[in-house]
Amino acid sequence: MKPDMPLPVLEASSIVKRFGGAVAVDDVSIAVSAGEIHAVVGENGAGKSTLMRVLAGILTADQGTVKVGGELLEGGAKGSLEAGIALVHQELSLIPEMTVAENIMLGSTPTSYGFIRTRQLKAAAAEALDEIGVSVDLNESVARLSVALRQFVEIARAVARKPRVLILDEPTATLTPAETDHLLAMLQRLANRGMAIIYISHRIPEVFTICTTITVLRDGKVVDSTPLVETTPSAVIDKMVGRELSLDLSSRRVATPGALVLSARGIRAHNVNGVDLDVRSGEIIGLGGLVGAGRTELVRAIVGADPRYGGTVTLWVDGHPRNITSYQPAVRAGIGYVPEERRTDGLALTMSVSDNIALPNRRELSSAGVILAGKTARFASNLADAVGLRPPVITRDVGEYSGGNQQKVVIAKWLGRKPRFIVLDEPTRGVDVGAKAEIHRIVRELADNGAAVLVVSSDLPELLELSDVIHVVRDGRITGTLSAADANEKSVMSLASGENLVGA
Ligand SMILES: Nc1ncnc2c1ncn2[C@@H]1O[C@H](COP(=O)(O)OP(=O)(O)OP(=O)(O)O)[C@@H](O)[C@H]1O
Ligand SMILES: [Mg+2]
Repeated sequence: MKPDMPLPVLEASSIVKRFGGAVAVDDVSIAVSAGEIHAVVGENGAGKSTLMRVLAGILTADQGTVKVGGELLEGGAKGSLEAGIALVHQELSLIPEMTVAENIMLGSTPTSYGFIRTRQLKAAAAEALDEIGVSVDLNESVARLSVALRQFVEIARAVARKPRVLILDEPTATLTPAETDHLLAMLQRLANRGMAIIYISHRIPEVFTICTTITVLRDGKVVDSTPLVETTPSAVIDKMVGRELSLDLSSRRVATPGALVLSARGIRAHNVNGVDLDVRSGEIIGLGGLVGAGRTELVRAIVGADPRYGGTVTLWVDGHPRNITSYQPAVRAGIGYVPEERRTDGLALTMSVSDNIALPNRRELSSAGVILAGKTARFASNLADAVGLRPPVITRDVGEYSGGNQQKVVIAKWLGRKPRFIVLDEPTRGVDVGAKAEIHRIVRELADNGAAVLVVSSDLPELLELSDVIHVVRDGRITGTLSAADANEKSVMSLASGENLVGA
């Protein structure tokens, strides 16, 4: 180590973590100093989350050591937390039924003689929220918060521990550009005050905005670790994928909208205040807007996943109108829905990939009420291939796959049904660059084959790239509609803004 380098706060040496026979983390060493923002990047399944779970004491390494401030870590998650390591998980881990304050203080709830000290709890939670510059009602139950606000509450929970090392596993996947900027500025502040930060993201531009060091993982190994100033985004991507990535950046699709497939009128629901929407065959409609604008609530109300207070949804099936009122009949009539929160809504984690894919396709895969194993396996394999599942082992439990690969399984599940109308809510959140291009290709192909497609995305470049028409949603209403020709980051954001979600 160079003499002018500060001593690292966190030092992990030769970490190995296996799952069964597979090596997820393969002899990884990483060191992070106070004030450093250290990026960890890599493709889906590269081992990033596994490494972080080892650092946070949630998983026990098969080999290697972790030191904080020179002291060897032992004693699992509690030990890591006490030593000053706080992890913001890739998947949200809040308890929806509890309030914001209770969630923030979960695990460090102040008690006196066994009674929870409510006032103290609220004060500590308020301080943490203040620290990250987010205003949200402490008494609100988390179930009622948007995914973005949940993410900020999750971060507040980590910050409330006053950690020496803060690890964030894809914190911006659910955030809009403005919210992302807010988060990045906040991390910069924490780092300036001496916190050591590990930052995982698939969004390479973000990494280049705030990080000081970057470690690239591939197949569980460190392939590069360098000060950020000594590398470039394209060099990082090449290292991630281990080859030069030649994405097929196909020119914009020329949409030829056909017959009306879905028509929603006067939709009212929680956070949805009267929306009319039409989607035609062959058309990709994008819903833009800030997180919290009501887009997820709107699409859930349309597909019947949540109750509507008012309005009608009509699906046209071979020229005949069908009134859509609830979810199961909607699915039977040919509606597909890839939800935003895949871990709870989209997947059975303890079931195999094959069973998950077969689930909504049981009818086609069975004969006289019996599921045909061979047919199911072929069907699942083809779809797993189509979405680029890695590794493509359809007998493995979905819960054993990395976050990005789980998203591919949700999409595969719905592709199999050849839906007439499909809603994709944040389809590539947490998906690596290669897989993202692949999913975009699949979505276009769906439309080209006649499906009517509705996409919600907070990833503006993605929304602009996919959509033939963009409706911008604000406060539960469509406040503007842009054709592909008129849509750009500025026009979408100016229609979307006017809502001060993350405070000043
Ligand atoms: N509980 C588990 N059981 C078995 N295998 C697992 C388990 N958790 C992770 N793995 C495997 O370990 C490898 C690394 O997964 P990990 O979740 O660390 O990837 P990641 O880099 O975080 O990916 P992503 O960008 O998709 O989040 C993958 O091959 C994954 O399938
Ligand atoms: Mg991960």
